[in-house]
Amino acid sequence: MKKIPVILDGDPGHDDAISYVIARANPLIDIKLLCSVNGNQTIDKTTINTLKIANLLDINCPISKGAIRPLIAPIMPAGNWHGESGLDGYDLNIGDKKLTDKPAYKMMYEVLYNSQEKVTIISTGPLTNVAILLKTYPEIKNKIKMIAIMGGGIIHGNWTPASEYNILVDPEAAKIVFDSGIKINAAVLDATEKAIIKPSDFPRIEQVNNKVSQVVLAWLKFFYKHPMEIGYEGAPIHDPLALLSITNPEILKIQKMHIDIDLDGKYTRGMFVYDRRHSSKLKPNADIVLDIDRDKFVDLLINALHYYDGRK
Ligand code: RIB
Ligand code: CA
Repeated sequence: MKKIPVILDGDPGHDDAISYVIARANPLIDIKLLCSVNGNQTIDKTTINTLKIANLLDINCPISKGAIRPLIAPIMPAGNWHGESGLDGYDLNIGDKKLTDKPAYKMMYEVLYNSQEKVTIISTGPLTNVAILLKTYPEIKNKIKMIAIMGGGIIHGNWTPASEYNILVDPEAAKIVFDSGIKINAAVLDATEKAIIKPSDFPRIEQVNNKVSQVVLAWLKFFYKHPMEIGYEGAPIHDPLALLSITNPEILKIQKMHIDIDLDGKYTRGMFVYDRRHSSKLKPNADIVLDIDRDKFVDLLINALHYYDGRK
């Protein structure tokens, strides 16, 4: 089957990192560019983490530093989830990985412009980089095949009752992306909070026993603590569902919806406003990932980890 050229744009972040592990293990996925963005931690920390993950996974593509802050709102790091480094749990190094001298939005433009075919953008953090790209180079949207994101929630939020973290950090950016007319897949909390890795899954990961699986297990043994303290059954691995909406839709439930992003509500800023009315005249603007088969997700993660067998 034909390879899919992708740009990975994220705020690693444990679940971003696991998404990159799965992407790198998929022979159909051709990673053309890695971009960091502020989010789970400050841009300097998410950028260092991006370099460390690229070194761990032997991802050989340009790596560029993205937006230092959201378009309008202040930064809103999530240290309680991802720790001080943004990727606590295992000490990695950046090896010989270096940053490009151009910022993420410029590198995105360059990769898209020079590509022979349309490129898919997979964003697993706030959408600031993508919004800056679209506003700075509006003509480049013709080279974007689609944008697959982790973000939003239909039934509920996580950072506020109404809003999911990635969208809430930069709702202005999210609105620019959703109003762009580009094909969008959005993996929302309704599905991603079911992509739970439980402590009872840890022995299967331990049995894989290669360098990458050992790092992933160490990440999970850090990342699962906070969610279990607040009532989750394990670690919600949100971000891979953006990628899986492209590579493995068979383990997901996906529905076309029209989504608006609220910018001004006292309680609803960053909320996904979904028009369910039978009388709605609004054309769907996104494919929304609403559910996942968790057991098949765990099997898929284990299978991806075996890709790294033999790596020391
Ligand atoms: O709400 C979950 C999202 O916020 C995930 O992308 C996680 O990495 C954090 O960025
Ligand atoms: Ca993320």
